[in-house]
Amino acid sequence: MSDGIFRKKSLKQISNEVAQGLTDGHETSLHKVLSVRDLTFMGIAAIVGAGIFSTIGKASFDGGPGIILLFMFVAIACGFSAICYAEFASMVPVSGSAYTYSYVAFGEVIAWIIGWDLLMEYAIGNIAVAISWSSYFTSLINSIKIGGVQLHIPEYLATDYWTAKDGLTDAAKMAWANAPLIGGVRFICNLPAFFITGIITAIIYVGIKESRRSTNIMVILKIAIILLVMVAGVFYVNPTNWTPFLPNGMSGVLAGTSAVFFSYIGFDAISTTAEECKNPQRDLPRAMFYSLIICTIIYILVALVLTGMTSYKNLDVGDPLAYVFSAMNSTWANWIAGVISISAVIATASVLLVFQLGQPRIWMSMSRDGLLPPVFARIHPRFKTPSFSTVLTGFIVGIPALFMNLTVVVDLTSVGTLFAFVLVCGGILSLQNDPHRLQSRFKTPYVNSRYITISLFALFLVLVAMYSPGGIAGALSFTDAGGNISWAIARTKIPYLLFGVVFAVTAVLSFLRNYSLIPVLGFLSCSYLLCESGVSNWERFLIWLVIGLIVYFIYGSRHSKLRKAQNTG
Ligand code: ALA
Repeated sequence: MSDGIFRKKSLKQISNEVAQGLTDGHETSLHKVLSVRDLTFMGIAAIVGAGIFSTIGKASFDGGPGIILLFMFVAIACGFSAICYAEFASMVPVSGSAYTYSYVAFGEVIAWIIGWDLLMEYAIGNIAVAISWSSYFTSLINSIKIGGVQLHIPEYLATDYWTAKDGLTDAAKMAWANAPLIGGVRFICNLPAFFITGIITAIIYVGIKESRRSTNIMVILKIAIILLVMVAGVFYVNPTNWTPFLPNGMSGVLAGTSAVFFSYIGFDAISTTAEECKNPQRDLPRAMFYSLIICTIIYILVALVLTGMTSYKNLDVGDPLAYVFSAMNSTWANWIAGVISISAVIATASVLLVFQLGQPRIWMSMSRDGLLPPVFARIHPRFKTPSFSTVLTGFIVGIPALFMNLTVVVDLTSVGTLFAFVLVCGGILSLQNDPHRLQSRFKTPYVNSRYITISLFALFLVLVAMYSPGGIAGALSFTDAGGNISWAIARTKIPYLLFGVVFAVTAVLSFLRNYSLIPVLGFLSCSYLLCESGVSNWERFLIWLVIGLIVYFIYGSRHSKLRKAQNTG
C-alpha cells in the first residue's frame, strides 16, 4: 500500500466493504435485480443514441464512405478496453466503475481524477444528449397536425440564448425575434431538454426495476427501427456513392474521431450497476461484449447504407438518417423518415437514462470512500436508489441543458471517456505482476507483447518517416516556412509527440515486463484516439481536471477514509 495521495485500496478491502454493506441491510444495499439480458439491453441503450442518429452525419461528410474504417478501428479500440473493463468489473464488482478500478491500480488521487473525469463523461455528456433529444422532439412535435391544428413549440422555448443570438438557422432567428422580454432580457431557454431530464431522473429515483423496464422497452423499439432502416435503405443504395471511398484521404476520416468514438460510449457505463446485478462477475463482462458486438455490427451496416444512399457531400446535417430517406422523395421513404425521427427521440432518451443512472452510483462510491460528503451515498429507504445523488445529477444536467449551447460537449465527452479507457487498460497492466492481485472470474487472455509492441513501435517510426512531411525530423520540428518557432505548429504537433513518447515507453516496459498484449493494444489505440481529439479539447479537459484537483485538496484528501485508516492504523 503506498502512502500520501497515491494511497491504494486493496481489493480485499473493497470486498470487505461490499460484504459489510450487504449485511448492514437497509441503509447501504441496493436491489440486486439485473440479469445478463438486462445489462446487455442497458449497454445497447447507452451506446445507440445521438452518435448514430446525429453526429455520424458530419463524420461521414468529412470522411466519405471510408468512415466505416474509423467505425471498425474505434470498435477494435473499444473492444480491447471492454476486455480490461470486464476483468476489473469481475474482480471489483462494486458501483464505482473506472473510479474504483483506478483506486486499486493507481491510488487515490488518480482515482479522484477519474471520478471527476467520469463526471464529465456522464453528466456533461448528458447535457448534450438532452439538448439533442430536445431538437428531435421539437421537430417531431412541429410535424404533427391534429384535426387540422398544427402543433408547435415556440422556437424561443426550444433553444439556448447563444444559439438564438448567433442566428445561424431560421429557427434561431425566429427564437431571437419572438422571445418575450423580461427585465429587458430576451427569455430563451430549452424547456424540452429540462423536462426530459426531469422525467428520466424521476424514473431512476423510484427504482432500478423501473429503470430496467423502461430501458428494455426503449431498446427493443430502437433496434427494431434501426433494422427497418437498414433493410429499407438497402433498396435505395446506389453503389456508385461508395466511390471515391476516401474523398478527403485518411485525414478526412480521422476528423470524425470524436464523433465516432462518442457513438460507442456507453458499454462502460453498465459497470456502474455492479451492485445491482444478480451475478456481476459473470454477467457484466458478457453484457459488455454482447452490447459492443451488436452495436458495432449495427453501426457498420448503418454507415454503409447511409453513405450508399446519397453522396457523402449531402451528409453534413444533424439528422442524417431521416434526411437520406426524406431526400428520396417517395411516400414510403417519407414515412420511414418520420419513423426514424420517433426512434431518435426514443434512442436518445435511453442514453440519457443509463448515464443518469451511472453518475449517482459513481458519486456514491466516492462518498463511501470519504472523498465526497456522506450525503452522496445516502440510499432511499424504500426505493433503494442513491437518492440525493440522483436528484443532484438531475439538476446538474437539467439546469445547464436549459441554457447551454454545447456543440463542443460531444468532443469533450469523448476526450474524458478515452482518458478513462486509457487508465483502465493501464490499470490492468499495472496489476499484471501484483502478487496480491485478487482472482477474477473473467481474465484477459494473455499473449506476451514483448516483441510485438517493439515491432509495432518500429513500424510506427517507419510510417512517420515515410508519410509525415519532412520525415521524423519534420515531425519533431516546430518551425514555420520562415524558420521561426511557431506556437501554432507546436500546438498541433504536441499531442502526436506525446503519443510517440507514450508508445516508446510502453514498448520498453512491455519488453522488460512481458506485458499482456490486449491491454497494451487498448492502451495504445485509445491514447492514439486521444491525440486525434483536438488540442482545444485537451486544453478544456485539462482545465476541468485542475478544478477537480482543487476540489480534491480542499475536501477529498482531508476526509479520505483510507487516509484516516492509515493514520490510525
Ligand atoms: N453513445 C452515446 C450516444 O451516441 C453516448 O448518444
